[in-house]
Amino acid sequence: MITLLFHSEVDRREWWDDEFARHRGDINLVTLADLDSGAVAAEAIDYALLWKPPAGLTARLPGLKAIFSLGAGIDHLLSDPDLRRDVPMTRVVDPNLTARMTEYVVLHVLRHHRRQHDYDALQRLGKWRALAQPLASERRVGILGLGVLGGDAARALGALGFAVSGWTRTAHAVPGVEMFHGAAGLDAFLGACEILVCLLPLTAETEGIINAGLLARLPRGASFINAARGRHVVDADLLAALDTGQLAAATLDVFHVEPLPQDHGFWHHPKVTLTPHIAAVTDPRACVAQVIGNIGRIERGEAPINLVDLRRGY
Ligand code: NAP
Ligand code: GLV
Repeated sequence: MITLLFHSEVDRREWWDDEFARHRGDINLVTLADLDSGAVAAEAIDYALLWKPPAGLTARLPGLKAIFSLGAGIDHLLSDPDLRRDVPMTRVVDPNLTARMTEYVVLHVLRHHRRQHDYDALQRLGKWRALAQPLASERRVGILGLGVLGGDAARALGALGFAVSGWTRTAHAVPGVEMFHGAAGLDAFLGACEILVCLLPLTAETEGIINAGLLARLPRGASFINAARGRHVVDADLLAALDTGQLAAATLDVFHVEPLPQDHGFWHHPKVTLTPHIAAVTDPRACVAQVIGNIGRIERGEAPINLVDLRRGY
């Protein structure tokens, strides 16, 4: 019997139980409550599937063979100073998760491109007015982070005719996308972006990257979409850019504190559209299949797939 510790405060436990039971009856799914009550000994835990675990959790598990992130991001694990870094860590890479993110990005790019925020405001005023509308090919969308998710969104936006730019840490050539990289490439990238999309991982280098300095380098009246992490953004700087008109509108899926506190200025800002971290929710079916596959690989002495480079931080 293999013992897997499952922890997530936002996921429905029964969906995961059912999915594991359907595929591999020899995996015993246990929770933090089982551990804390003494029903399961910490030494018995072989693997951990985690979303935002409490700090110090993995350090309590001496028999751990691997840590599986329940999402694509791993910042929720790396933020633990006592994280077990001596065992492999994997993240979710799944075509369905990627497709959901691309839907989210395309939906909101189109909302900004087709000036839906302006039409919403006109509707509230009872005004019938047509606004100037550039072609998609006349609109440049810039994506910060062109990895699994950013790369797919770039392809979909390109297929719709948008002019697409991408910014990465290292140099890449991507057909149909104007590519920039590193600090040296950021100014030229930003200068042309009328719609900026953040799909970066949260690392020491990217935390707070969406700040007053960066927003000032966008063309006046640009729009911003954040589907990555709340801590990429300096909230006060974003609100100020919206209030001065430097930014026309923002779509935000992720926040410093989630759920977003009721008194936060984003909730009722007329230029903000917000969603509750749903851009691309992990599908238990895909994640369980991946975890089971990786447990099999590790038990056979093979390397797991979708391994994270802990030194790089994503
Ligand atoms: P990924 O495949 O690892 O791609 C990361 C991209 O970011 C790469 O292109 C990388 O550049 C670039 N990058 C990293 N650090 C950088 C830096 N300092 N400067 C410039 N570029 C940098 O990640 P992914 O699977 O696309 O996921 C991205 C993030 O999306 C996740 O980490 C997670 O936070 C977020 N996410 C959000 C949701 C949601 O529902 N809102 C769902 C899933 C994921 P290189 O190519 O040069 O390495
Ligand atoms: C969600 O935010 C993820 O990282 O998968």
